[in-house]
Amino acid sequence: MMNKNKIIYPGTFDPITYGHSNIISRAANLFDEVVVAVAESSKKQPFFSLEQRINLAQEVTKNIPQVSVIKFDCMLVDLAHQLNAKIILRGLRAVSDFEYEVQLSGMNHQIAPDIETIFISASQEHAFVSSSLVREMASIGGDVSQFIDPKVQIALKQELLKKKC
Ligand code: COA
Repeated sequence: MMNKNKIIYPGTFDPITYGHSNIISRAANLFDEVVVAVAESSKKQPFFSLEQRINLAQEVTKNIPQVSVIKFDCMLVDLAHQLNAKIILRGLRAVSDFEYEVQLSGMNHQIAPDIETIFISASQEHAFVSSSLVREMASIGGDVSQFIDPKVQIALKQELLKKKC
């Protein structure tokens, strides 16, 4: 039986930002279960390892009981079927997200017509955040405290130091 109260929020989360956690907490107000699905995304050659991305997502969402964090490296619609979830959630920040998101949800719907994608638009203060810009800013010593959780900041600093050595 498909679970109508469960929603999957997939992404690379490299790392999770306040933009992501804002979407997650808003989804948790609407659904009984929000599954944050961290994609392996090996094609993107993520900066953080999959384990680190999962740990940080867990840390940031630990106070929201409806949220669980899992990893996946299969087709998103297959994951939805495995979890008996009917709905995929994506965040929309700017018009520029729209084209890719329509493509992604369209392809997914074509392969699995029983799965729907819904969108939450990012709130104004998070409309321009992206993980790669946060990493870039941090790598040149910029203050990223308004974009990411303090625990994520520490992890980012440590990882940048490690990669510099
Ligand atoms: N706040 C802040 N940043 C946000 C955001 C928000 N609300 N929403 C998206 N972003 C940013 C991310 O930080 C990321 O930034 P970056 O590229 O600068 O690092 C960017 O938007 C997009 O990343 P993300 O949301 O993580 O999505 P993604 O495009 O990396 O992930 C998957 C896409 C994982 C959902 C998709 O590749 C997938 O489904 N993969 C599984 C395989 C599959 O089924 N493929 C077929 C699809 S048809």
